[in-house]
Amino acid sequence: MYAAVINEFGQVPEYRQVPEPEAPDGQVLAQVRAAAIKNIERMLVDGTHYGSAQMPLPAQVGLDAVAVLPDGRRVYTGSAPPAGTMAEFIAVEPHNVIELPDDVDDAQAAAMPNAALSAWFALEFAGQMQADQTVLVLGATGVTGGLAVQLAKHQFGAGHVVAVGRNPNRLGTLADLGADVTVRIDEDFDRLGQTLRGVHEQQPFDLVIDYLWGQPAQAALGALANDDLTAEYHRTRYVQVGETAGGTIELRASVLRSAGVELIGQGAGSVPREAFARVETEILPALFTALSSGTISIPTHVRPLSEVAAAWDEPTDSGVRTVLVP
Ligand SMILES: NC(=O)c1ccc[n+]([C@@H]2O[C@H](COP(=O)([O-])OP(=O)(O)OC[C@H]3O[C@@H](n4cnc5c(N)ncnc54)[C@H](OP(=O)(O)O)[C@@H]3O)[C@@H](O)[C@H]2O)c1
Repeated sequence: MYAAVINEFGQVPEYRQVPEPEAPDGQVLAQVRAAAIKNIERMLVDGTHYGSAQMPLPAQVGLDAVAVLPDGRRVYTGSAPPAGTMAEFIAVEPHNVIELPDDVDDAQAAAMPNAALSAWFALEFAGQMQADQTVLVLGATGVTGGLAVQLAKHQFGAGHVVAVGRNPNRLGTLADLGADVTVRIDEDFDRLGQTLRGVHEQQPFDLVIDYLWGQPAQAALGALANDDLTAEYHRTRYVQVGETAGGTIELRASVLRSAGVELIGQGAGSVPREAFARVETEILPALFTALSSGTISIPTHVRPLSEVAAAWDEPTDSGVRTVLVP
């Protein structure tokens, strides 16, 4: 069969022939229909993700996929490297899968879970979100940020969603998908800070979900600060999730003293065990139902698996996930 394989870190995955996997006892061979390229796989392949250290090489890449089982069921499933999912066939445990609604297409079903689960975790567990709250999504034009906007509004019942991002076209789309206010990021971070301060004064943020860090985060955190001793306490949970605008920030100490800012992160190591226990039984089925009903959506760009090398580093439009189809 053919698969996307790397021999060493930093290499672009290569489409090449490999032996068909053998299904161990209790597993079956499933035919892969679609596997999305996510940032986590790019980082694993680069050798820059903390999970790279334990990844044996050579490795077939890809963490999850939509596949068809021998009994005909179309499912969402996972398979970690070195037996990754960007391949024609993978071995799966047939009871450890999520059956897909018929009306969800392969590409959307493959692209949605990683980003939507992360957004769900950020809102429910890290963010402790309550209905009617005001939520700011920083980096809303990305795939995960876009899903955070949609889930905040339609799944968790946010009263007010403020979408902040760089790409004006995608920001316009987000206004149709659940954002009540959109704020564009350009090079003027002082202006961004002033705009966010104005929005926060009108409708205080209860929760910030940040996919950017760097200068936009500095502006957003600065906008939460108060500059007088009579300011009233308002709790804002600031959830750090991604760092596409920079890995570090400068944070004035007074930001944390002058306002009710609670700064936390969300990632594999900061999600409680009880949350992971609900993924297969509750959260993923709810997300596939939301995808099926059109409550959430994710734009995809479908390419043949044979084009994995070209697709790997190719820029996509904002908010669009590339999906490989064997
Ligand atoms: N911790 C977790 O569990 C977890 C899970 C999923 C994702 N993440 C992280 O979250 C981040 C976003 O993920 P994603 O899936 O949404 O990625 P994505 O679809 O590739 O989107 C990246 C976003 O970053 C924006 N961006 C890049 N550089 C920027 C800059 N200098 N200023 C402002 N915006 C900038 C892009 O803006 P444009 O739209 O203008 O291009 C785009 O919206 C990544 O760092 C990813 O690794 C973390």
